[in-house]
Amino acid sequence: MDNERITSANINAGELRSEVNLRPQHLDDYIGQQGVKQNLKIFIEAAKMRGEPLDHVLFYGPPGLGKTTLAGIIANELGVDIKITSGPAIERAGDLAAILTNLNDNDVLFIDEIHRLNRSVEEVLYSAMEDYALDIIIGKGPSARSIRLDLAKFTLIGATTRAGSLSAPLRDRFGVLGKFEMYTSDELKEILSRTARILGVEIDEQSLNEMAKRSRGTPRVANRMLKRIRDFSQVKGNGIIDIDITREGLTALGVDGLGLERLDREILTTIIERFNGGPVGIDTIAASIGEERVTIEDVNEPYLIQAGLLYRTPKGRMVSQAGYRHLGIDYAGDDEDSEERQVTF
Ligand SMILES: Nc1ncnc2c1ncn2[C@@H]1O[C@H](COP(=O)(O)OP(=O)(O)O)[C@@H](O)[C@H]1O
Ligand SMILES: [Mg+2]
Repeated sequence: MDNERITSANINAGELRSEVNLRPQHLDDYIGQQGVKQNLKIFIEAAKMRGEPLDHVLFYGPPGLGKTTLAGIIANELGVDIKITSGPAIERAGDLAAILTNLNDNDVLFIDEIHRLNRSVEEVLYSAMEDYALDIIIGKGPSARSIRLDLAKFTLIGATTRAGSLSAPLRDRFGVLGKFEMYTSDELKEILSRTARILGVEIDEQSLNEMAKRSRGTPRVANRMLKRIRDFSQVKGNGIIDIDITREGLTALGVDGLGLERLDREILTTIIERFNGGPVGIDTIAASIGEERVTIEDVNEPYLIQAGLLYRTPKGRMVSQAGYRHLGIDYAGDDEDSEERQVTF
């Protein structure tokens, strides 16, 4: 279900293959994220000049903003191999040891969802990151002894949607931290133009603007939207994407003027109708809607907050005046609690 939603920022299986050609291969083709990009450019250059591995890098930010893509670009720019895995996929310390011992000098190891590594695996990573070594215990009881295994000098690139969930010892071992920001409309337009070019689909300026505006600041959402609207234009039109097809398609997909869809609106209306606009705790919201807390927190909330429709307070989430307006619900209201709400506000 989740993967069916156009604004879902999570990758789905069918996209995995087609994304390969959509992903830019070089830093210069990578649009936006100027801050992260400028620094990386220098660090990559320096590492290459010294013939040393790049410092370990941690990328954090909401899904679909280009963390995996940039990791691939780094390896490409360094001219080294990249091995891609994820926190939940590494079940035991031995699994990680097997991956690490297969790396060559200066290679990149990319661990997605690194906040989901289990404890025993994470501990193996400490010495690997710091000393390029593995400490292995052989035997049991009094005769047990530890041997140290040297590893290639590799670069770890970790990605996470939530830097706050990383343990301090792990976070401290990254030399470079890159925070991913949502993209501006102009940047999304550029990404959409590029994707349209690669897909060989004709699209007018107005449609690019419209899609950029409704993509929640997220390239993955923008690319997915373009593909779906292309389907509409092929079936219902002449294969060229114009503003009429775009609007019609987005309406049919349930994407509103700000890029919100059913679940986003449900979050806002639930807070308004059942909790008087908030503040209300995230677990209560999740339970009321029957959606997972992590989905709401990682996928929906970042954009609702960015768009100024929702905000966080120490007491919980609240819908802003703009949020009411967007849903066409009267903000002041005439119920008796509304004044109290405004005081908390
Ligand atoms: N800066 C960018 N320029 C062009 N395309 C991008 C950019 N960032 C992301 N994309 C596209 O968006 C999609 C999602 O990016 P991805 O790297 O998988 O995001 P993340 O790993 O942060 O979830 C990919 O198809 C990629 O091609
Ligand atoms: Mg990713």
